Amino acid sequence: MLSRAILKIYVISLIFVSSIGFYLNFKWTKQFHPKSKLINSSKIINPHNFSFILNPANSLCQNQKGTDILLICLVEVTPCGFFERQQIRETWANKSLFKNIRTVFLVGLSNNVSINQLLAEESQTYEDIVQEDFIDSYENLTLKTIMGLKWLTEYCSNAKFALKTDDDVVVNMPVLERYIEKLECDKVYMGYTEVRPRVNRKKESKFYISEKEYEKKFYDSYQFGVGYFLSKDLYSKFYNESLYTKYLKFEDVYVGMLAKKLNVKPKKKNRFYSFNRKKSEKMTQCLKEKNDQIFLAYVYKDSFRKIWNCFFS
Ligand SMILES: *[C@@H]1O[C@H](CO)[C@@H](O)[C@H](O)[C@H]1NC(C)=O
Ligand SMILES: *[C@@H]1O[C@H](CO)[C@@H](O)[C@H](O)[C@H]1NC(C)=O
Ligand SMILES: *[C@@H]1O[C@H](CO)[C@@H](O)[C@H](O)[C@H]1NC(C)=O
Ligand SMILES: *[C@@H]1O[C@H](CO)[C@@H](O)[C@H](O)[C@H]1NC(C)=O
Ligand SMILES: *[C@@H]1O[C@H](CO)[C@@H](O)[C@H](O)[C@H]1NC(C)=O
Ligand SMILES: *[C@@H]1O[C@H](CO)[C@@H](O)[C@H](O)[C@H]1NC(C)=O
Repeated sequence: MLSRAILKIYVISLIFVSSIGFYLNFKWTKQFHPKSKLINSSKIINPHNFSFILNPANSLCQNQKGTDILLICLVEVTPCGFFERQQIRETWANKSLFKNIRTVFLVGLSNNVSINQLLAEESQTYEDIVQEDFIDSYENLTLKTIMGLKWLTEYCSNAKFALKTDDDVVVNMPVLERYIEKLECDKVYMGYTEVRPRVNRKKESKFYISEKEYEKKFYDSYQFGVGYFLSKDLYSKFYNESLYTKYLKFEDVYVGMLAKKLNVKPKKKNRFYSFNRKKSEKMTQCLKEKNDQIFLAYVYKDSFRKIWNCFFS
């Protein structure tokens, strides 16, 4: 009987002592290694382990006098977008009209070998295609943007600003050039701002995202993918942060998540945008509009040049 009681007391005190020990140890760790958890949480969770297949000459981001350029435009386009790329080269990305501005096209790999072959030839002619070895698809659009950030970091870090845009967007380059020339600041993440939109959970929607892909109810504020700008101090920061940020297939939302983590506030420039397809059809009031509109998006193939002619007259 007695020995049992002693054993009981012994066990209870053992538990008590070890809890105190555990508690003190916990406090000790917290006090003297407050960052230990933090250090381990910054593990690479989204490696970007792809290699460039096509890459323009290193001199692309230098102008003739060897000085830095003002703006590099990154246009996301599918490998098959031969027509769209040519149309852009001949309009708003015309190098002889805008000497301080360069444009490259971002593509992934096509499943079709002959398309990749044609791309390689196109790249030899124009020296303006950036391609990595991931499969080009809608779900992989964010990979394309991350490739763009990596390319900026490694090959174009001296361009003062970068613009990300798409192949169905007409850029009002004369107005944009004048605007950007006057812009003198760091930490620029500028565009048409979507303020903390609600995540779409409707399964039948094109924009559906499951809770597994993205937990929270709202996205961080982000700049619409049609056209957004980054200043050069941010290229490598955004690229690095992407390695520590879970993949999401909406590239513009994803860049907003990077900005939030880096404490970069989205700068609002909504006045410059128009997404109206009907307007792109008419565009007759072009004289009024050409001074306050930088992007015209979702443009039909056959109105692209008409709108450009209107901007550039
Ligand atoms: C981080 O975790 C690893 C094991 O994954 C461990 O070896 C290392 O000591 C931890 N670092 C810190 C600072 O806690
Ligand atoms: C990256 O890819 C290479 C081969 O392409 C492979 O050897 C390497 O282990 C990969 N690294 C990571 C971190 O996945
Ligand atoms: C660029 O514009 C110049 C001047 O208008 C024109 O001569 C040239 O053909 C254009 N370049 C392209 C690739 O269309
Ligand atoms: C691959 O692309 C070529 C050139 O556009 C086309 O003629 C051919 O039909 C395509 N092949 C497949 C399997 O889609
Ligand atoms: C995205 O690219 C990766 C790497 O090439 C590929 O394995 C994957 O199938 C692609 N995803 C889609 C949906 O095409
Ligand atoms: C890259 O990002 C991680 C995660 O935010 C951060 O811990 C690290 O300091 C960054 N490295 C550089 C070189 O900015």
